Amino acid sequence: MAHLTLDISRVFNFINRNEIISLQKEINSAHQMIIQKTGQGNDFLGWVTLPNEIDENLFKAIQSDAEKIKKIAEIFVVIGIGGSYLGSRAVIEALSDNFNMLKNNAYPKIIYAGHNLSEDYLSELMEVLNNKSYAIVVISKSGTTTEPAVAFRILKNHLEQKYGKTGAKERIIAITDKAKGALKKLATDEGYKTYIVPDNIGGRYSVLTPVGLLPIAVAGFDIRALVGGAVAMQKLVTANTDIDKNPSAMYAATRNALYRNGKQLEIMVNYEPKLYYLTQWWKQLFGESEGKEKKGIYPSGASFTTDLHSMGQYIQEGIRNIFETVLSVDKNYRRLEIPYDKDDLDGLNFLAGKPIDAVNKMAELGTKLAHVEGGVPNISLSIPELNEEYLGQLIYFYEFACALSGYMLGINPFNQRGVEAYKKNMFALLGKPGFEKETEEIKQKIEKNS
Ligand code: PA5
Repeated sequence: MAHLTLDISRVFNFINRNEIISLQKEINSAHQMIIQKTGQGNDFLGWVTLPNEIDENLFKAIQSDAEKIKKIAEIFVVIGIGGSYLGSRAVIEALSDNFNMLKNNAYPKIIYAGHNLSEDYLSELMEVLNNKSYAIVVISKSGTTTEPAVAFRILKNHLEQKYGKTGAKERIIAITDKAKGALKKLATDEGYKTYIVPDNIGGRYSVLTPVGLLPIAVAGFDIRALVGGAVAMQKLVTANTDIDKNPSAMYAATRNALYRNGKQLEIMVNYEPKLYYLTQWWKQLFGESEGKEKKGIYPSGASFTTDLHSMGQYIQEGIRNIFETVLSVDKNYRRLEIPYDKDDLDGLNFLAGKPIDAVNKMAELGTKLAHVEGGVPNISLSIPELNEEYLGQLIYFYEFACALSGYMLGINPFNQRGVEAYKKNMFALLGKPGFEKETEEIKQKIEKNS
């Protein structure tokens, strides 16, 4: 199988190759921390060997549930937040027709909930679900996260009113911890079908567990091919430490060398709108893994050429603390030529007969050159085409690079204690039992500031 490719030649105007290669020792030790499980957060390294350990029985069970859901539901609602929904959404959107929601096909439409606290969002969703057959997967590793719990309580009631308690039970799947958390207890008490999120895999590394695989299978995509792609990348990057032979190591070393030269912000750029959610998943993976102890590259995303007409100005001429990583797809599946027009009033005849992708590719090359000239180093990442295998490769490539990069920064890439700060304030403000002291403290803080 061909692999994704990485080209770092457009960073050499800013840092030299030696600055990257000199990080080989740090890469070696980070690699060892991952493989031999000797680093911080080593109880969350289950994702490292996950792809080639997935049991055939798990594929079969997921495939069989996906078939059942396809028969009974026009819509499949995926309830989850952060790592509990971004991985599946990234893969599903990347592989789906851009206008899938408006086209008929054999598979249920996938809709997401539990990733916000918007009253309008849930109310409007229920209006849609009133007139459609649907099923739900509720995903929460901890089983205690507020956003998905609120959405599930609402949709569970809706489902029970629509299909009765027994009918609703057939349409609910829960994915959670094997023993802990409110969702586990609820699922056991109600007798829902459940899948387990393994203890040693954190949310943002969980896309190749049932968390991602079930929704992806329901959407009609080939989960074996996805995992197959990840296995190929697992073999490559776990067996090689050499920066020149291991793309995850090369990416991790290059971004750290840039960071140490003042480039604190990375923009992941795509030229295909379908990759928007892959960028969102990548942002979570790197942001939640690296942003700690006042350190970390700030991950942001851009969709070109759309955002060239909004953020392009800043990227070209704003503060020079940015670098870009452009993810390109070599081959597209459709062909649409720009037509010839005898009057040529729009002046586009110089493009007549060219496929639109050829214009997109020149926009990509022209933008890379302009941004490098403007002071923005460029890393180029490309996959031959947008299919399950290459997405599987990309997922594992990024996960491994993120772990290497996090260890090079000297932080624990597998915890996320910072996420608790907003929850504590929210619970204190809402008067959650057990938060009485925090409620008093926050009231005083607000009074003092008013
Ligand atoms: O990566 C993570 O661990 C987080 O983003 C979680 O996935 C997110 O907070 C949701 O947590 P849970 O699945 O416990 O509801």
